[in-house]
Amino acid sequence: MAQQVRYERRGSTGVITIDNPPVNALSKAVRQGLVDCVMQGLGDEAAKALVVIGAGRTFIAGADIREFGQPLEPPDGNFIIAGLETAGKPIIAAIHGTALGGGLEVALGCHYRVAVPSAQVGLPEVKLGLLPGAGGTQRLPRLIGVKPALDMITIGDFVRAGKAKELGIIDEIVEGDLLEGALRFAETVAGRGTAGRRIREREDKIAEARSNPVLFQEYRAAVRKRARGQESPLRSIDAVEAAVTLPFTEGLKREREIFQELVTSTQSRALIHAFFAEREAMNIPGVPPDTPTRPIKTAAVIGCGTMGGGIAMSFANAGIPVTVVETSSEALERGLAVIRGNYAATVAKGRLEPAAMDKRMGLIKGTLELAAVKEADVVVEAVFEEMAIKKDLFAKLDRLAKPGAVLATNTSSLDVNAIAAETARPQDVIGTHFFSPANVMRLIEIVRGAKTGRDVIATTMKLAKTLAKVPVLVGVCEGFVGNRMIFQYIREAQFLLEEGALPWQVDKALQDWGLAMGPFAMSDMAGNDVGWRIRKQQAPTRPNDRRYSHLADEICERGRFGQKTNAGWYRYEKGSRAPLPDAEIEALILAESKRLGIERRPIADEEIVKRTIYALVNEGARILEEGIALRASDIDVIYLTGYGFPAWRGGPMFYADTVGLDKVYADVARFHAAQGYFWRPAPLLEKLAREGRRFSDLDSRKG
Ligand code: 3HC
Repeated sequence: MAQQVRYERRGSTGVITIDNPPVNALSKAVRQGLVDCVMQGLGDEAAKALVVIGAGRTFIAGADIREFGQPLEPPDGNFIIAGLETAGKPIIAAIHGTALGGGLEVALGCHYRVAVPSAQVGLPEVKLGLLPGAGGTQRLPRLIGVKPALDMITIGDFVRAGKAKELGIIDEIVEGDLLEGALRFAETVAGRGTAGRRIREREDKIAEARSNPVLFQEYRAAVRKRARGQESPLRSIDAVEAAVTLPFTEGLKREREIFQELVTSTQSRALIHAFFAEREAMNIPGVPPDTPTRPIKTAAVIGCGTMGGGIAMSFANAGIPVTVVETSSEALERGLAVIRGNYAATVAKGRLEPAAMDKRMGLIKGTLELAAVKEADVVVEAVFEEMAIKKDLFAKLDRLAKPGAVLATNTSSLDVNAIAAETARPQDVIGTHFFSPANVMRLIEIVRGAKTGRDVIATTMKLAKTLAKVPVLVGVCEGFVGNRMIFQYIREAQFLLEEGALPWQVDKALQDWGLAMGPFAMSDMAGNDVGWRIRKQQAPTRPNDRRYSHLADEICERGRFGQKTNAGWYRYEKGSRAPLPDAEIEALILAESKRLGIERRPIADEEIVKRTIYALVNEGARILEEGIALRASDIDVIYLTGYGFPAWRGGPMFYADTVGLDKVYADVARFHAAQGYFWRPAPLLEKLAREGRRFSDLDSRKG
């Protein structure tokens, strides 16, 4: 095995190179290698300064997350970083790619930091339920001031080199070759020693916060709201406060104590699960990473409504020219105007350069000619969700699209096999279920038809990554994974209304639990009429021996379609999206309970959470045993990226594991006894509960 850290001298500078693909994580071997090489460099009399640099695609992406959960083995990060900082020779971190977490902490231990313009730095530990545990909370405020440090540490976003230089994290931006630039820089500073460059000794940037203790109170209050139950952002504030109130070494100790508490917490386990789950979703049995893919250089999107427009933007954002096809010039103009408006809003917020907007708009062409699809390597159909329309369209696409083009349908629930059967090339047909707004939401359910080719799966998964999305492969069934589960959740939420709850109580209970939005506010946002129209078509075939809540239909009969009509489960002031409890809805629900002969009872938040979340889990278990999802963690990814499920709960399946499947099963069985049909426990849930196992045990078995 190649040496993971090596030392060589270049002229009068010692170069320490970390070479631990793919992201130079600070594994035990790297930590030890760093200690050895720093010692070697300090002992090398000919080296007047040292440069620390990463081989491959990046500097250091942080601690090796895979080592968390095991006892921390020496050498410790703080020990290494103290060694760098107190060294007698100037040490320069040369950054490309990303310097993240422990990686940035190593760089902060160095006396200087230089970076290429494309480099990014950050302390994203908070996103893993942690805080920077190797001095980041103590050094960053000393370097850039308390407020900017709090922002970086509690949000965890990456900062580009230019901005990092403005903040004072980076000393110099290197154009051209990084190592050459770093060596030049090293020669310049070699004679200067390290005086004034040890961040631990700096006090100027934290002095102001010392005399302003309300700063932390105010910051905490703001973060508490934003964190929605997640602990790590608040605990990070405690650590930064320690940087201000305690001497440096005491502050370091405090930081380490909090880190140790967090690293063993369920929240951190959940967030780390989420991190790896997202990456694991790319592994598809039978479709190995070397499966050949088809080149995708151009795209066509059929339909320029809300979904089509968002999908077209996703292509343009990734630099892929896209033709949008509409049936009338009015619809096309309207659709393109919405796209332009969306980009303009982003420009107005300062998040996109006007030139970049022009470039993206330039990549989107509109046409009324379906024949234009013949140029496209991938065609995404995003027309009205009706089987007859989709079938007709795919029959036409089969005649018009070039051989080898990927033919994707953006259906959210229809049978991809039936759509594929309209073509003579079902191997090229696949589902790409984008979530709305498609230019923003990261999730795509990639729906594999019975005949979808492996190379088409590989191509579409890769394409989704190119579009900066999170693809999860699912099988064909009604609603696929996400919506099939959400039907059960919404059903329970509505039953709870009939039994004694009100929409705002249900929503609040679930929001307090961590969801971005409760089911009723969500439904009002998405439009209550969408499901209503589908239910009306299904009404004749609905089994009448099963409980059915008429409330959702009733509010639509009253024209309460949600935000767009200023009334739904809530009422809305004109021009506002803030849901307001409505006496009309309360009266409607009370009357419905009466009509059903249900004596309303107080319903505790705990019951609301169990009835809705376990409805997800029970259906998730069925989906798993049917093989519609490949693994429980894929279901989690879908809920975390598509449905506002709190990341710190790890997704519905991981959450159930943390509760204990025996307990979840016992509640499901109890609900079944009380409520009947819909709560039949999934056999897989029952089996795992009896065997004392977890959903995640199934995933690890698949390896
Ligand atoms: N430890 C272990 N493995 C890591 C890792 C880490 N810190 N970061 C990334 N990886 C692995 C990924 O799991 C993936 O493995 P796979 O190929 O087997 O699936 C591989 O590296 C490549 O990662 P990505 O697919 O994510 O590649 P990208 O190029 O899209 O992104 C990245 C690279 C921006 C570095 C991204 O991986 C990332 O954000 N990593 C996490 C960074 C982080 O959170 N660092 C803080 C760690 S905690 C810490 O440092 C504590 C300290 O304060 C004491």
